[in-house]
Amino acid sequence: MEPVVPNHHAHHPGFRGRAGFAAAKRFLEVGPDASVGCDLTDVGPGDHVIDIGSGPGVAAREAVRRGATALAVDPASVMIRVGRARNDHPDITWRQGTAEAVPSEDASATVVWSMATVHHWQNIDEGLAEVRRILKPGGRFLATERHLRGDGTDATDHGWTEGQAGSFMASCREHGFENVTLDYGEASRGKLLCVLANQP
Ligand SMILES: C[S@@+](CC[C@H](N)C(=O)[O-])C[C@H]1O[C@@H](n2cnc3c(N)ncnc32)[C@H](O)[C@@H]1O
Repeated sequence: MEPVVPNHHAHHPGFRGRAGFAAAKRFLEVGPDASVGCDLTDVGPGDHVIDIGSGPGVAAREAVRRGATALAVDPASVMIRVGRARNDHPDITWRQGTAEAVPSEDASATVVWSMATVHHWQNIDEGLAEVRRILKPGGRFLATERHLRGDGTDATDHGWTEGQAGSFMASCREHGFENVTLDYGEASRGKLLCVLANQP
């Protein structure tokens, strides 16, 4: 039976030390699903994007390239350090934080992303409450995950099954998001499941 828990890697010990540095460099090379995310949320001038679990900030960099400003948030100091060294830009602010405690004011973002990261969130309800808090009215929320071929139970299963995406969508609706939909994308990581939702 397929697991429906969308944060099945909540107990990952976190990225740090040499292994964390290697992971940050890998995320730079693979890149996040930056173009897919920007396209699906129609990011452009006038937008302020908060990227939750930004890693080394490849998506934040793409957002500012398209004229937005961005706040890159990640709990791992090594991700912020590599991001500042490789993807810095005057329109990107870097802060250490988590989905469950986003270091930003209420109603401060027009777009919130969490790319390849929800499967690591410690607490889905707390994370979604934070997304509701920081989004402006009408703001766009996007969560992308690699579309898993396996059943989402293995330690190497970084991503979601359709069941896990469906469970996350149900939580989005319970938290009061509107227009919760599932889209499919293709990026360097392979096929993506993309959950889109709007702040009322
Ligand atoms: C697979 S990486 C994805 C990084 C980047 N978004 C990308 O697409 O390349 C997952 C990221 O989530 C971060 N993360 C882990 N737990 C988190 C949490 N509770 N809240 C926010 N980010 C978290 C990790 O530190 C890591 O940088």
